[in-house]
Amino acid sequence: MHKILDPGPALLAEVVELVSYPEGQPLEESSLRRAAEGYQGILSQVMDPIGEEVLSLPGLKIVSNVAVGFDNIDLEAATRHGVMVTNTPGVLTDTTADFAFALLMAAGRRVAEGDRELRRGEFHGWGIDTLLGQDLHGATLGLIGVGRIGGAVARRAKGFDMQILYTDAVSLPPEVEQELGARRVELPELLREADFVSLHVPLTDETRHLISTEELGQMKRTAVLVNTSRGPVVDEAALAAALAEGQIFAAGLDVFEREPEVHPALLGLENVVLTPHIASGSVRTRSEMCAIAARNLIAGLRGERPPNLLNQEVLDK
Ligand code: DGY
Repeated sequence: MHKILDPGPALLAEVVELVSYPEGQPLEESSLRRAAEGYQGILSQVMDPIGEEVLSLPGLKIVSNVAVGFDNIDLEAATRHGVMVTNTPGVLTDTTADFAFALLMAAGRRVAEGDRELRRGEFHGWGIDTLLGQDLHGATLGLIGVGRIGGAVARRAKGFDMQILYTDAVSLPPEVEQELGARRVELPELLREADFVSLHVPLTDETRHLISTEELGQMKRTAVLVNTSRGPVVDEAALAAALAEGQIFAAGLDVFEREPEVHPALLGLENVVLTPHIASGSVRTRSEMCAIAARNLIAGLRGERPPNLLNQEVLDK
């Protein structure tokens, strides 16, 4: 395991022998395999690539991911090798939705740009046209994905009198649509109509580069794009080009295609807010995520069904 937060280590120490991932080791599958050899459980995090090489380790019973997303783990291979995989859903929903809103506001209202300008000594007094941004209140929000986190963003948007459009494989129940004033549309309509677009889909083969040149070209020139889901859902090179050319107004990104790398073209742009994958990063939520992941691991090692098991098939075998 990597470092985790209280009460995770104490919960685990009561039941298992804890071994830390050797400091300085690269986060490559071969190193992860060497480190996990001979152990029955792995407490993994989003930066750990866990595929065939690790999952085929003899005696491995469970991989407990300290995250709701699990695209770093090959679930199919885990199931094939009889390894349980768990995640930490629910606990981070509102914290992540809060942060998506922070990015919508920061990008739309140019908060980080203003902070940089001021620190450079360029604030010479109130200006009628200083860093004019886009209003959130009353604007149209396009949610790509309305699962737990997307839904929580929608509830916040209601408080800002926003109109909500969404895409998803399935419609929200009619009473929820009515309560939120949300309307399900196809992606091109959402991109054409929305003033703010926020991504809340898992990373799959279907969602990789879901937002690329063509989609960015369909958005309003005044639109803001926010990504708190997974980096590869957005084609970073295409986004950087669209931002540089003023094809959209701004973006807020908490996740990146090749973390921890950030596309160099994005780093040079003023109209993008960049944060280091911290959307779930409140003191309380990260600590609860660690506790949940520890409990999942302990249950799996005891031969019980972990509360957040992703591949029930392993136990059905
Ligand atoms: C997750 O949980 O999937 C986040 O990306 C990390 O908290």
